[in-house]
Amino acid sequence: MSIFQKIRCAITLGQGVLLELPEPTGQEDPFELFDTWLEAAKDSGIILPESMNISSVSSQGRPSSRMVLLKDFDTHGFVFFTNYQSRKAQDLEQNGFASLNFHWNILQRQVRIEGRVERVSVEESKAYFDSRAKGSRIGAWASHQSKVLANREELEAQFKYYQDKFAQVGNEIPYPEFWGGYRIVPDSIEFWQGKASRLHDRFRYHREQPQTAWQVERLSP
Ligand SMILES: Cc1cc2nc3c(=O)[nH]c(=O)nc-3n(C[C@H](O)[C@H](O)[C@H](O)COP(=O)(O)O)c2cc1C
Repeated sequence: MSIFQKIRCAITLGQGVLLELPEPTGQEDPFELFDTWLEAAKDSGIILPESMNISSVSSQGRPSSRMVLLKDFDTHGFVFFTNYQSRKAQDLEQNGFASLNFHWNILQRQVRIEGRVERVSVEESKAYFDSRAKGSRIGAWASHQSKVLANREELEAQFKYYQDKFAQVGNEIPYPEFWGGYRIVPDSIEFWQGKASRLHDRFRYHREQPQTAWQVERLSP
């Protein structure tokens, strides 16, 4: 972030930006518009602008939500990484659909994304795993994500176990096959721009299939 952007962020104190924001026209490609908005969120000084809520639904129809980090996106979809045995992963494997939500409060913007879910390739997961800090890679082995622990010591003992186990391999921590990425392939992306008097702008892009054209419509706030 530049010094100007830091000052702008400090001055606005979460009340909005000093500069005029470009308005969506409803004609943009939604991936390009998302890219523009994510870059604006990064420039605004928001901590972890790539953090997003993901909601999944169990096979019993019970929804649950949690934050994850967007690690990649392109016209194929939005990618995050997790433990394939976690609660969310069980939901995503069984139900196959998810929704994402970004809220960039200082910009008064929200993006809602819905679509089906697929695993990213093992090569892609492995490449991202290898890029992570060593502690995070050992941590992935040590955490049986979403399982009940007796106490903190149990988790730390598991971490120590893998630290010792991989002590001989230096930085070459093996890739755990129970860990990797999911891609949400969107069929709906809604951009929400806060406006005065609750007359907010909402543009929803939707498509029937991944290869078909996007339709856009303005929604009432
Ligand atoms: C800002 C933030 C970012 C997070 N990023 C991730 C992530 O990228 N992947 C992940 O598995 N968990 C991430 N977590 C932890 C999840 O919110 C959650 O606790 C964990 O994935 C277990 O969820 P589950 O039991 O519903 O599967 C993050 C939490 C926060 C607060």
